[in-house]
Amino acid sequence: MLGTIGATPLVRLDQLLSRRGPRVFAKMESFNPGGSIKDRSAAGMVLDKIRSGELTPERSVVVESSSGNLAIGLAQICRYYGLRFICVIDARTTLRNRSILKALGAEVEVVERPDPQTGELLPVRLARVRELASTIPHAYWPNQYANPLNPRAHERTMQEIAEALHGDVDYLFAAVSSCGTLRGCSDYVRRTGMATTIVAVDAMGSAIFGAPVMPRLIPGHGAAVRPDLATETMADEVVHVSDLECVISCRRLIRREAVLAGGSSGATVAALERYAARIPDGANAVLIFPDGGDGYLDTIYSDEWVTDRFGEVSHLWDSNGSTTFPAYQEAL
Ligand SMILES: Cc1ncc(COP(=O)(O)O)c(C=O)c1O
Repeated sequence: MLGTIGATPLVRLDQLLSRRGPRVFAKMESFNPGGSIKDRSAAGMVLDKIRSGELTPERSVVVESSSGNLAIGLAQICRYYGLRFICVIDARTTLRNRSILKALGAEVEVVERPDPQTGELLPVRLARVRELASTIPHAYWPNQYANPLNPRAHERTMQEIAEALHGDVDYLFAAVSSCGTLRGCSDYVRRTGMATTIVAVDAMGSAIFGAPVMPRLIPGHGAAVRPDLATETMADEVVHVSDLECVISCRRLIRREAVLAGGSSGATVAALERYAARIPDGANAVLIFPDGGDGYLDTIYSDEWVTDRFGEVSHLWDSNGSTTFPAYQEAL
């Protein structure tokens, strides 16, 4: 199974934008065995260390703070090699993810109370991981927010995209949290001299690019603290996307492309729509879709959840606008 990480499909989305302009592609990371792009990060930070004998089932313990996709990626690798994995999550972690982690044999520790000063859960989770890592003998903390092996794993993500488009990638839209994906893609682009404009897609209320921190509803992209992996030059442009824009774009993705994608994928679509007027006709724009929509059925794809939080907004994605559904016309 672990051999199926990576080599995900790059699919053309030709019904997404209402005007014919850029050629839009999505890198479908939900095709990884754990269901997300974070399988690549987990493999990059842990797999080589296991294979080289640095981490062994007899004595090593992997500890990490993650409430979702990275935890699932780590859990499946640790299970396969028989390593103990302690995962520190917080009360916002979905029941589905907790169940997956348990099924994969991870030991789950839940942080309930936020930091009294900031009201944030992340600092408390990180403090607990630091404590576990310093008290458990032979503990290994991958530390996705600072570990250079995280971005290194994503150089391959960009290589796959570049190869699929014969090097012709004019724009890349990538959601950011640890910044592993974006940094890895950006490092590859700079190293190989590709002429790709890299657009970071962040959440409104995220601290990554220095904006004031605000509560966010949709997990995946955004971070409450600026990660060590973030650099000044990793992105050419930054677009901040609201929770409502994510919801609208995810729903539009289904309507126009029949793609059930996660919240941060919707964020890249929202960013593209905002940015599209600046992209020349015929240019290739690639969106990285970090995960699928099955983990968001109780939120983004629940009419009740959406109406409770944003009011009656379905008209924002229900109308077809000027979309012509070219696939249907071609089928005729
Ligand atoms: C669904 C989803 N989108 C986007 C990201 C951000 O990716 P990165 O941590 O590489 O910046 C993550 C990270 O966990 C994620 O789970």
